[in-house]
Amino acid sequence: MSLFVRVDLGPRSYDIAIAGTGGSSLTSFVRERATAMRALVVCDEHVSEHADRVADALVHAGIQPLTAVLPSGERHKCLSVAAHLYDRLAEVEADRNTLVVAVGGGVIGDLAGFVAATYARGLPLLMVPTTLLAMVDSSVGGKVGVNHAVAKNLIGAFHQPIGVWIDAEVLTTLPDREYRSGLAEVVKYGVILDPELFIFLENHIEELLERDPDAIRHIVSRSCRLKANVVEKDERELTGLRAMLNYGHTFAHAFETVAGYGALLHGEAVAIGMVCASRLAEARGLIEHAVTERQRELLDEFGLPTVPGRWPVDDLLAAMRKDKKAVAGKMRFVLPVRLGTVDLFDHVPETAVLHVLQSLIP
Ligand code: GLY
Repeated sequence: MSLFVRVDLGPRSYDIAIAGTGGSSLTSFVRERATAMRALVVCDEHVSEHADRVADALVHAGIQPLTAVLPSGERHKCLSVAAHLYDRLAEVEADRNTLVVAVGGGVIGDLAGFVAATYARGLPLLMVPTTLLAMVDSSVGGKVGVNHAVAKNLIGAFHQPIGVWIDAEVLTTLPDREYRSGLAEVVKYGVILDPELFIFLENHIEELLERDPDAIRHIVSRSCRLKANVVEKDERELTGLRAMLNYGHTFAHAFETVAGYGALLHGEAVAIGMVCASRLAEARGLIEHAVTERQRELLDEFGLPTVPGRWPVDDLLAAMRKDKKAVAGKMRFVLPVRLGTVDLFDHVPETAVLHVLQSLIP
């Protein structure tokens, strides 16, 4: 039996299906949601076999697929690769019903989603995430985009998919580092919204590291529900609620930039970023040290890094000032006020951030 998480957005509502073992059918999921005759399946070279299975399911749903296999890596999430996909759509004479299917991690989802958002003013999009990080975060909520030399995700749109199909079995072959990186985002949901999820993670470390299917399905469906709740209330990140999902990310983006893109996986940077943000919250008198320690210990059990590297603090602060989340040049932080609740803070003095970094960098 598949589990369904509904994202309620009026005319843009959709289901996230977390496929069960046996009898779960992508074919019927698509048949019930798409009117397409043709589809462009976009994947990267690491998941082309899975993309072939997705293409077969489309054929059974009466949809003719064309597959575009792209080289993997963040640097391919750019306008020139998007232009290549526009060419493929033009080749098959895509119309407004043509379905774009993103099979892969965050890079493929963001890129194919951006192409779907912009070609012919918008094509239907089906997300088939293949990494834990994409399952619990980037495939849900409609943020799509490509990178610009100046910053990641600078060119983008909000374009909700018609559905998200999650087959957690694909995680059995996901490289260990990437799997652990996805767990960091799940820990994040526990800290910002759901103490019970946090406790579940603390109590199921071994099962999760062994990739127990039931434990995975639980954390994926819970994370998707939590993200859906936020997106339903603040789809376009206008009220500050959706911004809460960026807990740990102001630090994380600076770490990714200064360490050099690719040196740290996103979830690894977020893991360190959460510990830094939590320490900052402690320094502001918002939480007890024990709240930071629980996060640090859990992340550590998941084999994630929890201290910044020896990166120059001036470079880190400069990167934070440039962050998209900075408002009128002021850094903006999402900080915990207790386990399961965070708030937005716009006026954190730079010296407080500096102290946190100096106290943690070895
Ligand atoms: N990854 C944060 C968001 O979707 O808003």
